[in-house]
Amino acid sequence: MSSIHPDIARILITQEEIAVRTAELGRQISDDYAGEEIMLVCILKGAFVFMADLARAIECPVQTVFIAVSSYGNSTQSSGVVRILTDLDKPIDGRNVLIVEDIVDTGLTLSYIAGLLRDRHPKSLRICALSNKPQCRKKEVQIDYCGFVLPDEFVVGFGLDFKDFYRNLPYIGILKSELYRKPEC
Ligand code: PRP
Repeated sequence: MSSIHPDIARILITQEEIAVRTAELGRQISDDYAGEEIMLVCILKGAFVFMADLARAIECPVQTVFIAVSSYGNSTQSSGVVRILTDLDKPIDGRNVLIVEDIVDTGLTLSYIAGLLRDRHPKSLRICALSNKPQCRKKEVQIDYCGFVLPDEFVVGFGLDFKDFYRNLPYIGILKSELYRKPEC
């Protein structure tokens, strides 16, 4: 395994654990949608790493589309205002839409996007999230496929960032607290 980044206090979920869990989720999704096509909606930027692995772990025919949103900016705390930076480039009506997200924290981002996509009349709409911090929830969202439940720590890696850095770490780790001011849920 690669060495730990000097800004990381502790690795929470290793590269190997993520790979195993992603393969499990891919199998489960393939079984649930057997015989159907899936449109994977990647929520940029954070979900691009997980999406790449998840898409390859699914055996059904998949299309991939991307939506870019931001609610945190350069802050560690959600602004509560979700901004669409780039919308989907395809209609989703009549499609089995599976939203792919890296983390559900307050739930504000996902509840906003799920509402937006529901209004476009997909055949079905489900959510797959690599990680979940349920203790920080402000809006309830139903996560149909969840990779890992995380403690209330500021985590980075595997798509998760701080100021747009650390997304390329192959694991999920706790950022050293001296590098940021601790956010409140
Ligand atoms: C992060 C993350 C989720 C969202 C989760 O996105 O990727 O989309 O926050 O937080 P919430 O449940 O509290 O809404 P961010 O807005 O930081 O953009 P990014 O994906 O480009 O990092």
